[in-house]
Amino acid sequence: MPFNEPYSPVVSKPSLGGTSLHIREVTLQRGANTIFSGLTLDLPEPRIGLIGDNGAGKSSLFRMLCGLDVPQSGSVTVRGLEARNVSRKRPGLVGMMFQNPDEQIIFPTVAEELALGLSPSGVARREAIAQARVFLESRNLAHWADRAIGALSHGQRQHVCWLALMIASPELLLLDEPFASLDQPGQALLGMDIAKASQQVIVSTHLLEHVRTFERVIWLERGQVRADGPGAQVCAAYQADVAARIAAQALSYK
Ligand SMILES: Nc1ncnc2c1ncn2[C@@H]1O[C@H](COP(=O)(O)OP(=O)(O)O)[C@@H](O)[C@H]1O
Ligand SMILES: [Mg+2]
Repeated sequence: MPFNEPYSPVVSKPSLGGTSLHIREVTLQRGANTIFSGLTLDLPEPRIGLIGDNGAGKSSLFRMLCGLDVPQSGSVTVRGLEARNVSRKRPGLVGMMFQNPDEQIIFPTVAEELALGLSPSGVARREAIAQARVFLESRNLAHWADRAIGALSHGQRQHVCWLALMIASPELLLLDEPFASLDQPGQALLGMDIAKASQQVIVSTHLLEHVRTFERVIWLERGQVRADGPGAQVCAAYQADVAARIAAQALSYK
């Protein structure tokens, strides 16, 4: 399928809006590190970008939103549910694409991994695998169905994680550096998927062109919000800061 042609999703998607996300006065510690202290954010926009240096707290924020990390104080709620209870009470509500695909992938083959995403909607396993094959075909990837995931490259495994999220079609998509290992066609396709998604999408990335047009981008720095506003403004501010730091560092090398 040419890249400029839309594919037909095999699953229907819930309509946009209403995934109310609230982070209130959160303190999060991971091991000995205090990652967030008094962090408060309301996240209602359909597209939100998350940027900032390594270690800024992007992955930690995602881990809290999907309930993997539970704050020591404060609250994280998704549609009125405590984030930590979401996977048990509403398994189809929040889906996360991990920065490291190996944290996400469970099954040995691509079709089996994709089928897993359909289990919250009650699809029987055999039918789920059949749907996964149809989905792969719709993406021109029918030949991936029986491939061993362990024999895929890192970028291909990242691609599988993204496909798994697409087929699962949760109401809130959390994408943690999803472009990082994708080749250029993969990045373009993922960008189109994000643009077309009917769900709320939050994306962290160092590739600012993917979030520059978003209505909202949050720049995290050492666990705090350094800037929060329209993508064009926040990305420009971050880039200016990075340029200044590189220049200062270059001076100190002389
Ligand atoms: N498993 C962990 N245990 C303790 N501290 C961690 C762990 N993972 C990350 N951190 C720390 O949390 C902070 C934020 O990390 P992270 O959320 O991964 O940032 P980002 O995704 O923006 O690179 C960093 O200071 C990092 O060292
Ligand atoms: Mg990260």
